[in-house]
This record gives sequence, C-alpha cells and structure tokens, in this order.
Amino acid sequence: MRIAKLKLEGNIFLAPMSNVTNLPFRLMCREYGASMSYTEMISSDAVIHENKKTINRGISCEAERPFGIQIFGNSPDIMRTATLKIEESYHPDIIDVNFGCPARLLTKEGCGSALLHSPDLIYDILKELVDNISTPVTAKIRVLEDMDKTLEIARIIEKSGASAITVHGRTRQQQYSGRSNMEYAKRIKRELSIPVIANGDIVDELSAESILEYTECDGIMIGRAAMGNPFLLRRISHYISTGELLEYNECQQRVEDFKEYVRRLEEYDLMHTVNMKAQAQWFTRSISGGRHTRNMISASKDVDEIVKHIKDMCNLID
Ligand SMILES: Cc1cc2nc3c(=O)[nH]c(=O)nc-3n(C[C@H](O)[C@H](O)[C@H](O)COP(=O)(O)O)c2cc1C
Repeated sequence: MRIAKLKLEGNIFLAPMSNVTNLPFRLMCREYGASMSYTEMISSDAVIHENKKTINRGISCEAERPFGIQIFGNSPDIMRTATLKIEESYHPDIIDVNFGCPARLLTKEGCGSALLHSPDLIYDILKELVDNISTPVTAKIRVLEDMDKTLEIARIIEKSGASAITVHGRTRQQQYSGRSNMEYAKRIKRELSIPVIANGDIVDELSAESILEYTECDGIMIGRAAMGNPFLLRRISHYISTGELLEYNECQQRVEDFKEYVRRLEEYDLMHTVNMKAQAQWFTRSISGGRHTRNMISASKDVDEIVKHIKDMCNLID
C-alpha cells in the first residue's frame, strides 16, 4: 500500500492511543507485523511551548520507520509552526491530524472531533500543512450521524491535499459505546481516490478480514484490541497474508510480551512515564484465571512482583 510517496509493506496500522502507544509498545507491534504506527496525539500548542512530556511523545527511532506523528489543534497558523518544528526534530514519515478525539479536554477547546462541525476549518488546517511542510499529511476522523455530511468532510479532506484518511465509524457522542459503523468507511472509500483506512472494533483475524472485504478499504487500523496484546498484530498480519490462523500459546505469549515490554521501557528510560499496574492489567485481560492475577497485580509493590504474578498465572493454567 502507498500513502503519497511512502511505500508500506502491508496495510495494517496500529492506532494512535494516548498513554498506550509509547515507543516500546509501538516497536513491538511493528516487529510483530504492523505496517505502520503513530505516536500518541501531540498538542500543537504544547509543541510550540516545548512542553517536556510532549517532546517525549514524539520520540521514535530508525527501527520504527515508517512512523507517523499525530497532532491536534484548531489554528492553521499554530499547527503549521508546530509541524515544521516536528519535521525538523523528528523527521516522521507522515503527519496525521486528529479530527476524532471525543475527550472533553480537546472538544471544549474546539479540537479533535469538535472540528467535524467546522468543515471549512478542517480544510484550512490541512491545506496550510500540505502547502508548507514536505511530509505527507493525513487525517483521522470520527463520523457524524448524517452520512452525507460525513461524506462532505471526507471530500474536503481529499480536496485539501491530504494523502490518506482513517475513518473510525463511531460518532463523537458514542465515545466508545455501540458498534463502529463500517458503512461510512465503505462509502468514503467509494467516493475518494486517496487511500482510506477503516478503524473500529477489529479484534481478531476474522474481524480484520471481514472489515477489509466489506469496506474494500486500502487498510485497517487496530486500536484497543492490541492493548496488552501486541502479538495480535502478528496474528492478523499472518492471516491476511497467508489465510491461515497462527497456532500459539496465548498465556505464554502474554508473559513473554510483558517481560519484553518492561525490558524496553527500561532501555528507553520510560518506566516512570507509564502506569505499570494498568498496563499489566491489559496484558492479563481475557485470559482465564486472569481475575485473580489482576487482584494480585493491584496489590504488587514493584514491577518484579507484577512479572511474578503474571508468570504464576501461566504456570497455574499449564
Ligand atoms: C486509550 C485510548 C487512547 C486513544 N488515543 C487516541 C489518540 O491519541 N489519537 C487518536 O486519533 N485516537 C485515539 N484513540 C482512538 C483509537 O485510535 C481508535 O480510533 C479507537 O480506539 C477505535 O479503534 P478500536 O476499536 O480498534 O479500538 C484512543 C483510544 C483509546 C482506547
């Protein structure tokens, strides 16, 4: 799959997720088979003010390429200045603009999904970036209840010169409830010439395949199902390329992945940036016997103890 001048080896994208998709996690997903990953969203205002936490969020490395940096904001001028700075400091392969986040923190400032009600401003923001930076610019949207208005936004995004669009088929009001309506991605794909990536509720090999087939989109993006489960990217990429389900021991895999994740957090000196207990809970999600382990994780004093409880869970199951 191609996005502007960028040639990707596949069409499976890891979704940007705040407080989840840090560099160690992204690297693991990329090694397992994600064709591309994105940083957690970064505020254009914070980039300009050189906020330390924001600077950390943009960090990547050559091994991650191709990678995208996602930004949010609502001022074409500020976003241009911020993306020029990002280009210079991090050299991402793509700059993605967030028009989907439903969090009040963003929408009350007119950012994220609030912009879906200002199509002219969406155009101005993207055009300003496309005209002034050399990195391809893409957009990620949620949908509006009104299909025609959503299609109009997609057309505006293409007209602005954006190189691809990701469609999460939920409205801002839905937050994460209900189902992601894939009819939107399907209709947008039919209307536009730029690549369209379908996002929402892809949880395994079969949902990945059926969404690709139904929407006829160029790619799929995987979010929550990968939390604590980076190996999902291997399973899905293997299935998409071979048509075969991978045999694996889920529990062993989760333990190995958790240990590797911790090792990489230490390697990049990012341990202090994550809530280790919350992350460990994700790695034990949906495993039988996991509830007891999660209680033990909550009471743990340190990371070694957390790893021990996760290992014990596996031994009990074996
Ligand atoms: C914890 C969390 C953080 C997220 N952060 C971002 C973000 O920074 N930028 C963004 O565009 N979407 C963000 N999202 C939305 C996801 O990228 C994705 O669109 C959504 O979860 C639907 O896909 P899924 O059903 O595969 O999870 C976030 C979602 C979650 C659950």
